[in-house]
Amino acid sequence: MTLRPISLYDLEAHAQTALPSAVWDFIASGAQDELTLDRNRKAFDDIVLRPRFLVDVSERDLRTTVLGEEISFPVMLAPTGSQAQAHTDGEMAAVRAAGAAGTLMALSTPSNYALEKVAEAATGPLWFQLYHRGKDLTSMLVKRAEKAGYKAVAITVDTPLPGPKERDLRNRYRRPAGLELANFTGEAAGLGVEPGSAAAARWEMPESTPFLWEDIKWLRGETSMKIVIKGLITAEDAHMAAEHGVDGIVVSNHGARHMDSTLSSIEALAEMVEAVDGRAEIFLDSGIRRGSDVLKALALGARGVFIGRAISWGLAWNGEEGVRLALEILRVEFDRVLGYCGCTGVQDVHRGLVQLPK
Ligand SMILES: Cc1cc2nc3c(=O)[nH]c(=O)nc-3n(C[C@H](O)[C@H](O)[C@H](O)COP(=O)(O)O)c2cc1C
Repeated sequence: MTLRPISLYDLEAHAQTALPSAVWDFIASGAQDELTLDRNRKAFDDIVLRPRFLVDVSERDLRTTVLGEEISFPVMLAPTGSQAQAHTDGEMAAVRAAGAAGTLMALSTPSNYALEKVAEAATGPLWFQLYHRGKDLTSMLVKRAEKAGYKAVAITVDTPLPGPKERDLRNRYRRPAGLELANFTGEAAGLGVEPGSAAAARWEMPESTPFLWEDIKWLRGETSMKIVIKGLITAEDAHMAAEHGVDGIVVSNHGARHMDSTLSSIEALAEMVEAVDGRAEIFLDSGIRRGSDVLKALALGARGVFIGRAISWGLAWNGEEGVRLALEILRVEFDRVLGYCGCTGVQDVHRGLVQLPK
């Protein structure tokens, strides 16, 4: 009998055995030599904690807010496409798990369940992650997302060109047959994009459709949802994003999936927080595996973090239950490390709790 996982690494190990190898590789792999993939972990491991004791931490409150929405603890579900590869319930399972855990889920544009259907099952806040494939498609998607109750649009900007991963090329990876990009087919038919239409086909072809700084103003005119930029990794771009009035920034290298040899997001975080200087909320993903990683990110200025691959590991374990388990593991770990650092809530977390490598 398989033992119940006690860490995200246990869930990962199980997923590797449970998923078809090409699907496993698609989820696990990083770009090229996977230097950044390794760095995403190593950089967290190299930061050490400076715990503080003789403080009454018998009661702890993990709640926080993201763009005005309360969540039960500062860990959220990142947008990862085609979640039905890991479990047939895909995004429906993930959104129910997020709701049960009292946290936020960001739904990916290439989801296997339509954004409206996911919203119906949501009991927590939702963001809609957007890949820009031209103004007509973006306009259609954000209007649908807003109508369905999504709180923010998170536009992913770190893939200006297609960047196939080498493991996927070797495996001749293709999305498994039968998994639709549901925002463009089925129930979405009649909402502006017909299955098989030129627009839907265009979305499937990730040719470069530039989204530029000046387009943020255009996007503001299309929606009253909050606007988040996902995928920045430098202080310069963080400053530009704040200048352009975005509400949030996700510091991310896309889980090292598209470009190799970049900084890890935890290394880039502090300088980006400084550049933004309170003008936007800052979140982080790429490499979160432990509750202590969450604390490290908060100590360096993030308001909350997202997990990506761990969603698929949870789904592969047992659908909704598995994603709930992944979130619960992180909650328990974060709660404990918070107490060990002398904090009774996220408001107590400060820069002095971490020591960066010399
Ligand atoms: C299988 C998979 C699919 C992903 N699909 C998307 C996507 O559709 N849109 C997006 O913005 N990011 C996507 N990402 C990136 C995640 O949102 C996130 O940035 C990354 O997974 C975080 O790193 P982690 O996996 O180490 O937690 C994907 C990641 C994975 C693993």
